[in-house]
Amino acid sequence: METLASRLVPEAVKNLIPYQSARRIGGQGHIWLNANELEQGCDYGEGSGAYHRYPDFLPHQLAERYLAYSLNGREVQDLEALAVRGADEAIDLLVRTFCQPGRDKVLVCPPTYAMYEFCAESFMVEAVKVPLLDNFQLNVPQICAQLPQAKLLFLCSPNNPTGNVIRQEDIHAILEASQSSTLVVVDEAYIEFAPDTTVVDLIAQYPNLVVIRTLSKAFGLAAVRCGFLLADPGVMTYVARLVAPYPIADPVAQISLSALSETGVARMRTQTASLIAVRDWFIDQVQQLPMVETVYPSATNFVLIRFRGPECIYSHLLDRGIVTRNQAHDPALNHCVRISVGSKNSMLETLNALKEYN
Ligand SMILES: Cc1ncc(COP(=O)(O)O)c(C=O)c1O
Repeated sequence: METLASRLVPEAVKNLIPYQSARRIGGQGHIWLNANELEQGCDYGEGSGAYHRYPDFLPHQLAERYLAYSLNGREVQDLEALAVRGADEAIDLLVRTFCQPGRDKVLVCPPTYAMYEFCAESFMVEAVKVPLLDNFQLNVPQICAQLPQAKLLFLCSPNNPTGNVIRQEDIHAILEASQSSTLVVVDEAYIEFAPDTTVVDLIAQYPNLVVIRTLSKAFGLAAVRCGFLLADPGVMTYVARLVAPYPIADPVAQISLSALSETGVARMRTQTASLIAVRDWFIDQVQQLPMVETVYPSATNFVLIRFRGPECIYSHLLDRGIVTRNQAHDPALNHCVRISVGSKNSMLETLNALKEYN
């Protein structure tokens, strides 16, 4: 059956036979001499002796557990999950699966996460920009006008670095307009901070929708490098062809499975609620400072602040050992600094440093 994904995917990927790793070929036996591994492990400490065998070629248990977590008891037909090395790998995989260098285009809506543009351009795929409006919402008519020439559209909700959720009706309008032309990728890296706004359920209705997730943010596992791609099987079949033979290291799979267990998810939710309380307290405090022009509403674990005056507050904080993210390189975000929300103590110290500037 012809699908949008099968029309968009380059012939070379369509005809690609996935790499036949030893684990993928499998087999039955009691002596395993098929993968050039060491039959006995070598112990270097840290439990290393148990890692002499290659991991699962695709960690299905992890993908299934993530799918169950992301649906939270809801039923969605025709939805698959793929575990990858962080959301960044998901972005890269989508570009490499569906775009041809020097020929295809993707759409991005800055200010947004810079990796969409970087991954496209590093693969010699042009990233056409349709900037966000002044209220950081999508310019829907302009996006719709550009859809026919783009294989992928990258959206981020809640968006980094602006912190806002993209309006659901705009995403719907774009999904309606893109069904026969473009895959719409919604990066939900920060979704745990605004869980009701997920568009994951819409994949059943719009098979051209792909959702990207990560354990790096609310789950607090940035160093583990574990992300997920959620998509219709018609899309996933092509992406899975390009995935590295053993994308997830065993220790990563084990830690991620624990995080996605019932107790793990409950712990993440408690921690998220505390972080939101600190974030809202910090926003309330910081917006009283005279040098603060705007504190943008945040549905994430960071706050975007626009300061008054020509000087950048970023270096003032840096001089006091507080490292934040300067956004001044983006013309739409001049005088803006993005501050991640840390512990109450860290935010108090940041607040005091800002007061000193006054
Ligand atoms: C919107 C967005 N997507 C993806 C990522 C990268 O996530 P990961 O650590 O899973 O690669 C980030 C990290 O800052 C992000 O802000």
